[in-house]
Amino acid sequence: MSRENIILIGFMGSGKTVVGRALSRQLSYEFYDTDEKIEEVTGLTIAQIFKKYGERRFRSEEELVIKKLAQKDGQVIATGGSLVLDQHNLDILREGGFFVLLKAEPEIIYQRLCRKNNRPQLGKKPTLEKVKEMIAEREAEYEKLADFSLNTSSFTVEEAASRIANSFRRHHVLSGDVNNIIV
Ligand code: S3P
Repeated sequence: MSRENIILIGFMGSGKTVVGRALSRQLSYEFYDTDEKIEEVTGLTIAQIFKKYGERRFRSEEELVIKKLAQKDGQVIATGGSLVLDQHNLDILREGGFFVLLKAEPEIIYQRLCRKNNRPQLGKKPTLEKVKEMIAEREAEYEKLADFSLNTSSFTVEEAASRIANSFRRHHVLSGDVNNIIV
């Protein structure tokens, strides 16, 4: 019986990478972050790819990475904030994936993004208005895809991860997949 991949989706700064890492440890799954993979493969940062080659190049690198990851199971995959908004990418990941949406209040996201200002989409300096505007544009799409969603604002990383792990286990109990229950 194959073990599903857990796909973490959500806006920049929602906690996909840190929570994903903790979740993978709790479940003894492998962890991958698509942006980190792209940086590893290209030898460039995401910001450099956008600046030097533009968004199209970034998208094609993203597609190559998820095509590779989708061939395996038993992984926690933290996606870039816009990856699942592309139907083609979504189709690649959808089969056998448990989609977890991470959310946080725009003010919290804004604070987190200001601390590490490396997101090309937000320009030289993020503004709260821009963050709110982009969340509003994307929210419905994210919600539509989510098998489970969690607001990370009021949890520690480990708590958030264990809530996701519990929901994942419940999902497998309910779907009768007893071989996929991790204890
Ligand atoms: C993006 C989010 C980033 C990165 C790229 C585009 C976006 O990933 O993939 O800068 O448009 O939401 P994180 O969500 O990990 O910040």
